[in-house]
Amino acid sequence: MASRLPPAALKSGDTLRSAYVPARVDLSVIVPTFNERGNVERLIAALDVALAGVAWQVIFVDDDSPDGTAAAVKAIAVHDSRVQCLRRVGRRGLAGAVIEGAMASAAPFIAVIDGDMQHDEALLPAMFNALRDDLADLVIGSRFLQADGLDRGLSAVRKAGSRGAAWLGRKALRAQVSDPVSGFFMIRRDLVETVAPRLSTDGFKVLFDIIASQTTPPRILEMSYAFREREAGTSKLDSRVVVDYAGLVLSKLTRDVLSVRALLFALVGATGILVHMSVLSLLMTAGHSDFSRAQILAALVAMTSNYFINNALTYRDRRRKGWRLATGYVQFCIVCSVGLAANYAVAGLVEQWVPGWILAGAVGAAVGAVWNYVISTLTVW
Ligand code: GDD
Ligand code: MN
Repeated sequence: MASRLPPAALKSGDTLRSAYVPARVDLSVIVPTFNERGNVERLIAALDVALAGVAWQVIFVDDDSPDGTAAAVKAIAVHDSRVQCLRRVGRRGLAGAVIEGAMASAAPFIAVIDGDMQHDEALLPAMFNALRDDLADLVIGSRFLQADGLDRGLSAVRKAGSRGAAWLGRKALRAQVSDPVSGFFMIRRDLVETVAPRLSTDGFKVLFDIIASQTTPPRILEMSYAFREREAGTSKLDSRVVVDYAGLVLSKLTRDVLSVRALLFALVGATGILVHMSVLSLLMTAGHSDFSRAQILAALVAMTSNYFINNALTYRDRRRKGWRLATGYVQFCIVCSVGLAANYAVAGLVEQWVPGWILAGAVGAAVGAVWNYVISTLTVW
């Protein structure tokens, strides 16, 4: 039997290989947190009760919350070795936090649970048994398994939104998962390790992303639970998270041919066409008879709105601010003007080979759009 302490004090020249054998860990519970200080102690106590008999640890991954969540976790971690805290600085994002927590684990299984007590930790032992007995590769805590819905902890708008998101997710995954955007699940760690480099690090859809990235469809078990009301703090899910999720679903539907960023760029480009046409028609009907001048003005307005929307949405992780916002604007206008010239030139060439405006127009526009996207990504953002 390995004892936890050296048998006696070492004498000069002695070498002792550590006899200390740390307890094994079968389950790492990953808890992403942002401003959850008020919930930390409560959650650890709840895990302690729920996971009695399981060799577990909990890894809080905190994005340097201003409310001092990390300090609250560390105050407990100092005397409870099952509790760990990964304080990330200079970064934000639920998905990235979950991934990094999983990467810090060496346990065969990992669970992900919100830090705000909205998920029911009492489900954890059943989830764990299912994985340990190799009945499944992934167990999802679902809010929607029962017809009446166990999502009373959500507002009506959120309820409709997450049901819509779940429906869309099912279509994209081609899997019958009732709650593919659940933030509550348990999974074999190796399934996350293999796909980790390909996962997106922002937004709320890490489970969806993990499932979609698997090469062999995992065996999924869903377990129903009732989503509780938040006890302390506030929700961080906002409209950007929704846009982000829509982008990911779209890119999965196109089988990863198009990246989320490219799709957002294309969507913003489409709004640019609308802006352009509205400004143009406004100027023309306002008696502004000089068409080419109106056309240039409309293009400028569209470029301007595209720039600011792209900066806020498509490239929000590298958003330009202050003086760089102005210089980026000039760069973007130059890039897009070159794109327009390329569009025009290519369309002219195609038209010589294959007469008719449809193919020429489409090829020209495609070349221009790809140019705008690639060059903007490389130079402006
Ligand atoms: N580290 C880190 N970084 N944690 C974050 C971040 C972040 O940027 N944003 C949110 N969190 C943490 C919160 O502190 C909480 O523990 C958990 O992630 C979930 O965030 P909430 O803000 O409470 O999400 P929600 O309750 O509105 O959303 C619920 O439904 C979503 C699907 O509709 C959650 O269950 C989500 O997990 C789920 O994806
Ligand atoms: Mn929550």
